[in-house]
Amino acid sequence: MRVVMIGTGYVGLVSGACFADFGHHVTCVDNNPEKIELLNRGEIPIFEPGLDELVAKNTAADRLKFVTDPAWAVGEADVVFIAVGTPTRRGDGHADLKYVYAVAEELAPMLRDYTVVVTKSTVPVGTGDEVETIIRGLAPDTEFDVASNPEFLREGAAISDFKRPDRVVVGVESDRAEQVLRTLYRPLNLNETPMVVTERSTSELIKYAANAFLAVKIGFINEIADLCDQVGANVQQVATGIGLDNRIGTKFLHAGPGYGGSCFPKDTLALSKTATKAGTPVTIVDAVIASNDQRKLAMVERIITACGGSVDGKTIAVLGLAFKPNTDDMRAAPSLVIIPELQKLGAKIRAYDPESMAEANKNFENIVYAEDAYDCLEGSHAAVILTEWDQFRALDLERVSKLLKDKVFIDLRNIYRGEELAGTELVYSSLGRPGLTG
Ligand code: UDX
Repeated sequence: MRVVMIGTGYVGLVSGACFADFGHHVTCVDNNPEKIELLNRGEIPIFEPGLDELVAKNTAADRLKFVTDPAWAVGEADVVFIAVGTPTRRGDGHADLKYVYAVAEELAPMLRDYTVVVTKSTVPVGTGDEVETIIRGLAPDTEFDVASNPEFLREGAAISDFKRPDRVVVGVESDRAEQVLRTLYRPLNLNETPMVVTERSTSELIKYAANAFLAVKIGFINEIADLCDQVGANVQQVATGIGLDNRIGTKFLHAGPGYGGSCFPKDTLALSKTATKAGTPVTIVDAVIASNDQRKLAMVERIITACGGSVDGKTIAVLGLAFKPNTDDMRAAPSLVIIPELQKLGAKIRAYDPESMAEANKNFENIVYAEDAYDCLEGSHAAVILTEWDQFRALDLERVSKLLKDKVFIDLRNIYRGEELAGTELVYSSLGRPGLTG
């Protein structure tokens, strides 16, 4: 089929490349000419494992192209995806839909034969109705449908999440649109991927409900971890003990410094706004938003306590800046809250992150960026693991102990278990495992 993907961010670029890899002809569009030039040179503006090879393979096979002017491609397309950003609107926290609506206005006159216009961006319930109204108003004689097809891609695992999804969700208002999307996703039917077909607003809400529930799960285990610290329990064993109940499941029960990223913070807030406006506030989600914001600050307190009550004049080595491993994305990363707070209290920061230091540098001041983990530890008093990159999982702890002046090792991702710490002089602390001190 002929597919147009409007927006070449984390979602649009991965989705476009994967649809091309299914054998469709995909034209990715972006109104940023520099970005399109970069992509046409085979350079990928984001770090996503495997994406560069996927893009190279499909551009070489002439199934994937990048343009700034969508007119021709839209006129020929069976499906046009809107995959532009829906950031949190400054001030009121609603999802900012101005880019989505601008695309709807731009593409309306370009539509020719029957086309399905699909919102892939995460959009509040009712956005599809608005997009339909906009296009209908500008192209009253054109045959089209508007559908919803939310993505559930995790950064760092986006290609496998796209190709082997737990389910595909489509929200449609006509059988014709449903058939087009079933044909589009037919390559997935080969491995019986369930397709959940709903009407549009249900599909839009499924996306928010999914992300909000995952955020609730994380907020829950984070608070249980704090309780474990007080009552002498082990949060990882609690997570195992509850997660083996298949009604709960073992995933997303890892205690950490609070969730970040471009989705959970934005989507929980947007859902909260939608629900409050509808007169049915999602008070549990509201509580998790507050709990998560507070947690990032609470981590500063933990670091101060682990450093003996003050970080003034101390050099703290921060291992990991990105909001999670296998990405360079710094959006809403805990480091963005924790590092400035430590600096305010007089700490000097050395930081290392395998991928996000260039991105991070736009967000921080007066940080010394290290060459690798050990270089980061060199000359520091204490070390904090903020992101669980694989390369931080098997550090030579004897060497870590020798490098850290105060031998304070704060593991905010519970990477280390305990046995590795024996024999070192490290003063180890983590989340919800008070028995593990090194
Ligand atoms: C998320 C959803 O998983 C994905 O389905 C949706 O499409 C986009 O948002 P992403 O934000 O890329 O994906 O990352 P994810 O792996 O979900 O982690 C989100 C945050 O939760 C990260 O900050 C991560 O560190 C944190 N997290 C995740 C935990 O603290 N504990 C966990 O057990 C899992």
